[in-house]
Amino acid sequence: MCGIVGYIGKEEALGYLIDSLRVLEYRGYDSAGVALLDNQKRIQIKKSKGKLGNLINLTDNATDLHGSVGIGHTRWATQGIPSDINAHPHSNTDTSVVIVHNGIINNYLELKEDLIKNYKIAFTSETDSEIVAHLIGVFQNQGLSLKDSLIKTIERLKGSYALAIICKQEPDKIFLACNEAPLIIGIGNNQDLFCASDSSALLQYTNKIIRLKDLELAELGRNGEYKLYDLHSKEIKNPEIQILTGDPLLLDKAGFKHYLLKEIHEQPSIIRKLLSSHLDEDLNIQFPEVDSQILKDIDRIIILGCGTAYYAGMVGKILLETLSHIPTEIEFSSELLARPVLANEKTLLIAISQSGETADTLLAVKSAIQKGARILAVTNRPESSLASLAKKSTVLIQAGVEVSVAATKSFTSQMFCLYLLAIKLAELRSDKKLSAANKEELNWIKGELRYIPQIMEQALSRAEIYRSKILPFAGRHAFIFLGRGVNYPIALEGALKLKEITYMQATGYAAGEMKHGPIATIDENIPTLSILLPGPTYHKTLHNCIEAKTRGAPSLGIVADGDNEAIRELDVIFPVPQMPSSGEIKALGHKQFEDILSPFISVIPLQLIAYYLAEYMGKDVDQPRNLAKSVTVE
Ligand code: G6P
Repeated sequence: MCGIVGYIGKEEALGYLIDSLRVLEYRGYDSAGVALLDNQKRIQIKKSKGKLGNLINLTDNATDLHGSVGIGHTRWATQGIPSDINAHPHSNTDTSVVIVHNGIINNYLELKEDLIKNYKIAFTSETDSEIVAHLIGVFQNQGLSLKDSLIKTIERLKGSYALAIICKQEPDKIFLACNEAPLIIGIGNNQDLFCASDSSALLQYTNKIIRLKDLELAELGRNGEYKLYDLHSKEIKNPEIQILTGDPLLLDKAGFKHYLLKEIHEQPSIIRKLLSSHLDEDLNIQFPEVDSQILKDIDRIIILGCGTAYYAGMVGKILLETLSHIPTEIEFSSELLARPVLANEKTLLIAISQSGETADTLLAVKSAIQKGARILAVTNRPESSLASLAKKSTVLIQAGVEVSVAATKSFTSQMFCLYLLAIKLAELRSDKKLSAANKEELNWIKGELRYIPQIMEQALSRAEIYRSKILPFAGRHAFIFLGRGVNYPIALEGALKLKEITYMQATGYAAGEMKHGPIATIDENIPTLSILLPGPTYHKTLHNCIEAKTRGAPSLGIVADGDNEAIRELDVIFPVPQMPSSGEIKALGHKQFEDILSPFISVIPLQLIAYYLAEYMGKDVDQPRNLAKSVTVE
């Protein structure tokens, strides 16, 4: 989503701004811009529609673009189409106040009308953001300082915002403010200061940060001095300085054509990392970063997330109910926000978010906290807003930076963490009462988890086979994905991946629902791809697949090696390796667990299918149209 950056110090700001924007670009890429304030108090703005490269061309050609105070922005359009004019920064009429904004000002129309009527202001853009620059300008013209003008402006804003502001009247400052949108100060090593909406943009310069809280303001000065204020202009003394532990973001495709393909191939090594940090030699599951008290005495679990994180949560729900028998609901974060959250101190709310900054998820968590729910975050970002809301109870998915907008490695690592959690909760709940059968099942699953990386590697080594089998379907306008049980969420995730990066119509269904409506849409132009791995639902799903085939749909399937029945029935098969001991659990008499780990295998060909189709169709695989990596608005 939109990204904010800023620099104030003694050096030229432009290089810092562009390099910081490079780090944030993968999160929103409709347009980008910078504003620089020079020694003569001149403000210059450069902005351009499209990728950051367009802005870089503009700034490279601008010889007179100087200043050691500057702000920058990369945009994902919310209000106003992607265009040069709607790109940030925005200014007031005489360009004395310039702002960049993330978020949505809900009452902007009312404020705009007021500014037009009472101050005869002519707006240049269609954005909600522009009103902020004009409002600050109006208050400054009444004789107020930038700080007081900003406070007065904020008092009038309804909605979410992270703001960075520069102005001619106070040329040695950058002002910041935020509410329900992240904004961070970076404390540099050379009496310089940075700001960014995401700490990843700061890591190349400093690891010392201050995270602004809602309704706080910050004043950054030229000599490295900074002050934080509340909305009553009262200084907030000794704000907490956090030390970031991550490495600077290395934008390196490691020889792969796209980040997406690289990230798909990173999955086995991430699962290995998670295994070594959470499962010891004696098969004990450890979560050192989670306060163990919050996992005890739970009577209900709510899982929430958006997009791919939601589908990981769907798998988690099945696991948690199957293994720990704790009633578990899964909700889209935005839907949980649409009604009162029914939660209390015995409710565990598991919030899943790769970025830890998704606005819907953060708001839903805040509302559950008010109800007394215990919060467990599953995230990739230890320094994220979500991790700080969850205090000490954060499970890190350790996936490394995911650059491609479409989530892949974060999905499997989120799922893996949920498997570990479900087993841990089952063990904690059953405690001494754990029946022999239960123990046997859980130990078997824990033992099997260790094989996942190598099985994923085997599936990945078949990438070329999957590519050659899917390319003949590149011209189709729609796809249907079918799965049951633990592979139903995988069918949904497979469809989401295809939609996101090929822009094809792709829909996932619970296979059993096919005949209750969706089958009406079937014809010879709509391939049906079913997940048909050995397990209790295998034959039922195969029948649903045959029902679609009977009505003309080309039938494709993710099937286990040696599945002759599927080979006979289906038009095209995508063979995947079997877990080495998948027959064992059946032999132990626990047939229902035969396919419990299959999502880690079935998702690999689905990710590759989406990738190869998108690549073949010439789509922008890593930065698909209209999407953004971190959705920081509701
Ligand atoms: C966006 C991305 C998706 C992602 C979702 C949730 O929609 O395009 O790939 O799954 O946000 O993101 P989160 O960071 O909360 O996991």
